[in-house]
Amino acid sequence: MSEDSLLLLGQVLDIRSNPFDAPPDTAAVHLSRGGLLVAGGRIVRVGDADALRADAPRARVVDHGEGLILPGFVDSHAHYPQTAIIASWGKRLIDWLQSYTFPEEMRFGDPAYAAEIAERYLDLLLAHGTTSVASFCTIHPASVSAFFTAAEARNMAVAAGRTCMDRNAPDGLRDDAQAAYDESKALLDAWHGKGRATYAITPRFSPTSTPEQLEALGALWAEHPDCPMQTHLSEQTDEVAWVRDLYPHRKDYLDTYESHGLLREGAMFGHAIWLTDSERARLREAGAALIHCPTSNTFIGSGLFDTARAMAERQTVGLATDTGGGSSFSMLHTMASAYEIGQLTGTALHPAQLLWLATAGSARAMRLQDRIGTLAPGSDADLVVLDLASTPAIAQRHAHAETIWEAVFPTIMMGDDRAIDSVYVAGQRVARGGAGSDTSHN
Ligand code: GUN
Ligand code: ZN
Repeated sequence: MSEDSLLLLGQVLDIRSNPFDAPPDTAAVHLSRGGLLVAGGRIVRVGDADALRADAPRARVVDHGEGLILPGFVDSHAHYPQTAIIASWGKRLIDWLQSYTFPEEMRFGDPAYAAEIAERYLDLLLAHGTTSVASFCTIHPASVSAFFTAAEARNMAVAAGRTCMDRNAPDGLRDDAQAAYDESKALLDAWHGKGRATYAITPRFSPTSTPEQLEALGALWAEHPDCPMQTHLSEQTDEVAWVRDLYPHRKDYLDTYESHGLLREGAMFGHAIWLTDSERARLREAGAALIHCPTSNTFIGSGLFDTARAMAERQTVGLATDTGGGSSFSMLHTMASAYEIGQLTGTALHPAQLLWLATAGSARAMRLQDRIGTLAPGSDADLVVLDLASTPAIAQRHAHAETIWEAVFPTIMMGDDRAIDSVYVAGQRVARGGAGSDTSHN
């Protein structure tokens, strides 16, 4: 192995198959003294530390000691323009959009503001161990360029798109069907496949799009079927009732998308809580993804997504913060919230299942499962190293853990950015408190 290869040592937790399908100890391999060999930004091999050292004697070694090496977290639904209004008090979905979200999104007409927030947001993500995200932008093309530019500077694999709305939004945040098509297409042509960027076709949701706009975006998607399509579906009961009024000829909420060419593999539906049996069946048949946004669903008061049911139905499920409807940038907090909602819906999700949803599950929803969210050889070396004893409260629980699952679960439930020991993006270590270099720190 050449001198520019990198050998990362530590504990390794490699969840190789879906732990909803197999017992966690079958789906996962834990190496208590393991490592990853990385070259050219990719994972070359995973194995025991001593064997890797013998195989690659000239590799540069970074020893993370007891640190737990995992794939970097993948957040499959977020709104970077809502960074500065996270944790805004007292509203439910429709009022929350009107009172907090739309006024803030209006500010993204200013490219300098968009760039400032995009950079702040991506640095916050990296500080929380998240290396990839699917984000909504705003209606302003500059908000999309700012986001992809900031991601490119950090070499992050992100998906994002211009958020299209042509009704039920204030002046300054509305377009029309043609502008949605033209401006989305121009951004798609400029960014999709450039470096690690993925363009996501992005109608905000059916209440803020006319049927003509959904039709235009369905046509754009048909021309670019390898792009993902992201939107919202059945988040709150008031919203579902509103959609029924706005689309009286459609059989249900999902049909507003389906009838306009917006239901198939590659579709990512945020929330998807209040679904009928027919909608569930069509989502599964289409191979579309349901994105579970647990901190948002409790914070905005939307409802409880039943993860175990969705997995038993063989839906594709991703896990996401939904910043800033969600109340955290952290996928650790998001897993904790998913666990608590699992308890309320009757299933204690296993730590392997939570970690899988936050990595491979979200990657699969984005159709990037061969590149990210995995430690499989050949995939991109986007990694997080967790300190499993990052605070006194966690350390005292961790001290008498007997299995890897008992060792990692306190960090899932109580951890935050202090648990993030190190982050690697495409094999480069990210400096703490800012991105873009591989400067070592401890
Ligand atoms: N539905 C439509 N837009 C949004 C949004 O920005 N956040 C959330 N949580 N739901 C939405
Ligand atoms: Zn959302």
